[in-house]
Amino acid sequence: MIKNDLKSLITDKNACVGVIGLGYVGLPLIVEFSLEGFPTIGFEVDGTKVESINKGRSHIVDVPSSDVEKCIAGGKFEATSDFSKLSKCDVVIICVPTPLRKTKDPDMSFILASGGEIKKYMRKGQLVILESTTYPGTTDEILQPMFEKAGFKLDVDFLLAFSPERVDPGNPEFQTHNIPKVVGGVSKDSGEVASELYSTIVDEVHLVSSARVAEACKLWENTFRAINIGMANEMAKVCSALGIDSWEVVRAAATKPFGFMAFYPGPGIGGHCIPLDPHYLSWKARQHGFDSQFITLAEQINSGMPKYVAALVRDALNENEKSVKGSKILILGVAYKKDIDDMRESPALSVIDLLRSRGAEVVYHDDFVEEVTFDHAYTIGDGEPLYNQELTDELLSSADCVVICTEHSGVDYSRVCELSSVIVDTRNALNEDIRNGSKAKIVRL
Ligand SMILES: NC(=O)c1ccc[n+]([C@@H]2O[C@H](COP(=O)([O-])OP(=O)(O)OC[C@H]3O[C@@H](n4cnc5c(N)ncnc54)[C@H](O)[C@@H]3O)[C@@H](O)[C@H]2O)c1
Repeated sequence: MIKNDLKSLITDKNACVGVIGLGYVGLPLIVEFSLEGFPTIGFEVDGTKVESINKGRSHIVDVPSSDVEKCIAGGKFEATSDFSKLSKCDVVIICVPTPLRKTKDPDMSFILASGGEIKKYMRKGQLVILESTTYPGTTDEILQPMFEKAGFKLDVDFLLAFSPERVDPGNPEFQTHNIPKVVGGVSKDSGEVASELYSTIVDEVHLVSSARVAEACKLWENTFRAINIGMANEMAKVCSALGIDSWEVVRAAATKPFGFMAFYPGPGIGGHCIPLDPHYLSWKARQHGFDSQFITLAEQINSGMPKYVAALVRDALNENEKSVKGSKILILGVAYKKDIDDMRESPALSVIDLLRSRGAEVVYHDDFVEEVTFDHAYTIGDGEPLYNQELTDELLSSADCVVICTEHSGVDYSRVCELSSVIVDTRNALNEDIRNGSKAKIVRL
């Protein structure tokens, strides 16, 4: 019986675990399984990543190369672009991207491609788990029929589950093993076996009644975040209109030990998840005749933040009798969040683009990001790539305005305050002590 066979393979750590997509989600996951003693195979279409992983090098900040080296040296882990090796796997976990099309509809092509490869090399006795964030129904509407059409029977020949990934890149406190894992099977056996598998590498598994519940859970979590960040951004604008310091207000509100959770304003939202995932939910809801107004409103507010920041820059320069056109503007931090190198959907890109479209000379400093490229399809500025500048005294004092888009820990903000003439701080990177001793004109969100 498939359930019992897989369970005993998992208990004995003999189940071969395959992970498709070795990015921010897939690489940490496969390393956990490998370090736990499971034989593992990572499937990746990017040959450069395959090559460097097999040399023991990690391209993900949260995964130390020493761990990858250990896995490779143990002889139980390899990365490959040869999908025929999927037939060796007892478990296959899909961790490929789920972007949006230009129309903001879900782009399922990566999941479809992965499902197609699995189907091609499928054999009886495999458990397939989807981890990519997606709309409720993907696992049982897309993957299940795909495998069934190939002649495989659920619960007899294969098991199928969804388990959302909650990894928070750059968060040293919460990593794969101590983030509770939600699991939902398309059948009872599927959920049970998938739970058993994850229990070997995470401290807590929460089994839900279906794959759809697990899919919806992830979107609920990220929609919650997008909406609350939207509210924080709205509140920052309200506070600004009333002449109140929004950061002081939210700090005070956060002292309430119940019924309040602090979210902070910023230049917009970035990353592969928060700006995208709510669209997966609203798209699916629309198909069922429901229009999610909260999601639409949060998206409008959040995507409008780069324009708001560009307006703050314009006004701050204006007070110094300068225009955006012809000014040298230094952006500090271009990755979408603190202390990581991820540029996907980073609001700094829009801020730069808007300022360049208005004639500013924009330069940036971010030790995590050596080069910034622009997608010409969306670019209104000149679209030329930019390169990381060393944060010299000369750079700081030559800028007409410094815009803090992301507050990386490695930056000395006292020095920034000391040498700059105008600063727009979108992250509250400059604390009161630093601000008080500064002669710079400082504008905060
Ligand atoms: N990054 C995060 O913080 C995060 C957190 C939770 C959930 N997620 C979700 O996890 C999924 C993966 O995100 P990610 O951040 O790891 O993306 P990523 O771009 O970092 O990694 C995806 C990897 O899959 C590879 N790939 C693409 N198509 C493939 C194919 N057909 N076969 C094999 N490999 C393929 C890519 O080359 C890439 O290396 C997405 O659905 C995302 O929404 C991401």
